[in-house]
Amino acid sequence: MRSFLRETDFSFDEAREVFAIADRYKKVRGRLNVIQDQSWGLIFFKKSTRTRLSFQTGVFELGGNPLVLEADDLQIARGETIEDTAKVMGRYLHGLVIRAYGHEVVEEFKKFSGLPVINALTDALHPCQSYTDIFTMMEYFGKGTPTLEAIKGKKFVFYGDTACNMAYSLALAGGMFGMEVVLSGPEQFRPTAELDKFFKEGGVAPTWTFEPDPKKAAKNADVLYTDVWVSMGKEAESAERVKIMTPYQVNGELFKNAHDGAIFMHCLPAHAGMEVSAEVLRSSKSVIFDEAENRLHTQKAIITGLVKF
Ligand code: CP
Repeated sequence: MRSFLRETDFSFDEAREVFAIADRYKKVRGRLNVIQDQSWGLIFFKKSTRTRLSFQTGVFELGGNPLVLEADDLQIARGETIEDTAKVMGRYLHGLVIRAYGHEVVEEFKKFSGLPVINALTDALHPCQSYTDIFTMMEYFGKGTPTLEAIKGKKFVFYGDTACNMAYSLALAGGMFGMEVVLSGPEQFRPTAELDKFFKEGGVAPTWTFEPDPKKAAKNADVLYTDVWVSMGKEAESAERVKIMTPYQVNGELFKNAHDGAIFMHCLPAHAGMEVSAEVLRSSKSVIFDEAENRLHTQKAIITGLVKF
């Protein structure tokens, strides 16, 4: 039984096939029988718009029955263990998609459910988003024909909290697929040893670098990427985070250091005027809605990979 909890849960060649499937799914939408008559549980411990809708639509389009479950509505909220919940779900369902706080939650569901489990974001990683972003860059730099060769050697810069799930996932995915990854943010939010552990356990050489100077980081960049400064669960640190991350806003001035053809990416939701200026967010450089759309195609391809490879 295959699961997708980290970027490295697919081999390089399997990931290439996942992207090829995503490309086919994007070209032709419609109902398929990849998981015909299967019921998949989509469990949310945290808020979501894109992940919820894209997985619900995607499971349906692959022939399955998506069951959206708020963790607050399950007995978990009243103390039932993950182990017992997962064992019960394993008796009813055919797959699980889980958005949780601690990464150990998705690992536990995988261990005890006996089902394929997809990580739909934990505090540590967001691999569905990073695969989607890789696919979006493949499309953009491949000029409509998405290939991994098109992104090889491209310089990718992530700004803001570089010790967060998106920074880690993009560093892992970028390293896996041959990109130059630079993480740029305040020293207090430098990646921890946890990131190197993900590289080591995934058998990928850590290729990322940390650059606290945002302008130096942007030099000759092909992609400028940012995410919210205050991730879900970090609301109490909001004022302090905004204060120290303000120099890392992605704006027109920063873009002057990047390549002429550089693009702006953001996993959304975005806060115009905070981590990104309104001007950049709405500019022709911004591919944010392609990223959002591609969640659907890429995740359908990830599910297909899990049940077919
Ligand atoms: N990017 C992302 O995961 O969006 P949601 O939080 O809306 O699912």
